Amino acid sequence: MCGIIGILGENSAVKAFNALKKLDYRGYDSWGIASKEKNEITLFKQTGKLPEILPVKFNSNVSIAHTRWATHGSVTEFNAHPHISSNKKIAAVHNGIIENFEELKESLKEQNYEFYSETDSEVIPNLVQFYMEFEKKDFITAVIRALSKLEGNYAVLFMHEDFNGIIAAKNGSPLVCGIGENEFFFASDVPAFLSHTKKAVYLNDLELAVASNNKIHFFDLKKNKEIQKETKIIEWNLEQAEKGNYAHFMIKEIYEQPETIKLALEQPKEKINEAIELINKAETVFLIGCGTSFNASLTGAYFFSELTKIKAFAFNASEFSALKNSINEKSLIIALTQSGETADLIDAVKFAKEKKSKIISIVNVMGSSITQLSDLNLMMNAGPEICVLSTKSFSSQLTILLLLASAVAGKTSEVKKIILNAANYITELIPIAEKKAEKIAEELKNAESILVIGRKEFYPLAMESALKIKEVSYIHAEGYAGGELKHGPIALIEKDFPVIVLSSEKTRVNTLSNAHEIKSRGAKIIGIDSIENKLFNEFIEVKEFSYANALVSIIPVQLLAYYLALEKGFEPDKPRNLAKSVTVR
Ligand code: G6P
Repeated sequence: MCGIIGILGENSAVKAFNALKKLDYRGYDSWGIASKEKNEITLFKQTGKLPEILPVKFNSNVSIAHTRWATHGSVTEFNAHPHISSNKKIAAVHNGIIENFEELKESLKEQNYEFYSETDSEVIPNLVQFYMEFEKKDFITAVIRALSKLEGNYAVLFMHEDFNGIIAAKNGSPLVCGIGENEFFFASDVPAFLSHTKKAVYLNDLELAVASNNKIHFFDLKKNKEIQKETKIIEWNLEQAEKGNYAHFMIKEIYEQPETIKLALEQPKEKINEAIELINKAETVFLIGCGTSFNASLTGAYFFSELTKIKAFAFNASEFSALKNSINEKSLIIALTQSGETADLIDAVKFAKEKKSKIISIVNVMGSSITQLSDLNLMMNAGPEICVLSTKSFSSQLTILLLLASAVAGKTSEVKKIILNAANYITELIPIAEKKAEKIAEELKNAESILVIGRKEFYPLAMESALKIKEVSYIHAEGYAGGELKHGPIALIEKDFPVIVLSSEKTRVNTLSNAHEIKSRGAKIIGIDSIENKLFNEFIEVKEFSYANALVSIIPVQLLAYYLALEKGFEPDKPRNLAKSVTVR
């Protein structure tokens, strides 16, 4: 979590502040900026969300800034970044967690270093000061020495009052470098500098960059030598990272789905062939992810069962290492992740690699950690997803999983056609479902709890629906397999208890018999299906698209979650306590 930005170039403070706004989906409980004016570092920090404009004036060409999602220490100005060394000469912003910070802090305190925050990050600039003072190292060497002492994850940016530049380093947290016209950017994510440049260099773990004097140099910290890095051209465009005429990114991203589904379908043929080979060679396929990406994994397992004879199972990435005796060189891992930076997933992938399993990732962010760990990357091509809640990335993941399962089954062209038709239909569906969702949200806004049920691939869809509702409206919601209702949750049902029923031709008979059981106990039923039924108090019609039904049926629930948030007066793009990219365990 947390977003960091560093800019070396004209008007750096204002640019860094504006860039921070593009990163605030990563954390938004406090923020801060450090700028170097002449030979002095000036800090400004605030709790709460970013204001409209930068409240202070800096005349500087070197700035670093940070937007925080608190881990170590509560939300206070002192805990906000940038942190400054005891001698006030070195400032740093950090994303990640320093696991050995307590022992480092204790030993620095013994040498009279002063600490003002409860954070793990504050040890970093102090450690650099220590190596500059006691070992008489220059700034860059002292940074390298300090980094070698850190255990944990970091993407970190440094500035020094006597150094006209920025040092950046990465180990386990995201960091990308933007190369502009006479300016350099370091950021947690590309949208931060997309309005300035499309040229990017992705840092790998244990790499360091130094930007100064209009030049940038890269170093491999393991080999302790300078390296050349490839500059890539970012394919995302600026409009994708802006809200445009939409009130929120969430609704914009829901509306983008017809397009993003089509983009997800555009996988290079060689990559699909490589994936088929890996899948066919594997004894067992494990689909893993977190949050929405886990729900997509589970849906994918149903796709594989429906279309192929492949043994495919879904697991929560955070629980994956419990399978220690089942994962081996014959296992294939399909890792799903929008950000490519989720710590639990990275751990699971590293664990599988140790067991010699092959890794395919389905990922949205180019150059992210997961792309560097995988044998094969299938890019979602969804463009930046800014809303903390995943919507378009879910449908992109389902599209690629469906594509993979159909490719293994030799049904690519048939299934591709179905997906394309579904995508075109979603364009028609969204405005109609939106009106209905708005009305239903008004009726449900005071509900304390909502159940969602479905069978087969609509079961993970029910889970994803419940996740959307709880993340953004803070209404307790649970997704259940229809058949499981009678084994417990039915005890909750009383008059007007809202239950969303997801069904289709394939699952209708059994799902509706579950709906009968709860209707007779007073449940208020919101049906999402291709055919209306007298059991439904409310109904949103969705057409049938065979294998691609899940892609279509999730749309009304995403819209319902959005309008529930609006009805309750909540900000849909930045729900409380959540962060888009969870880089802690
Ligand atoms: C966080 C986000 C979720 C997301 C999950 C996995 O918890 O709040 O919306 O589904 O991380 O993210 P990933 O980037 O790995 O798909």
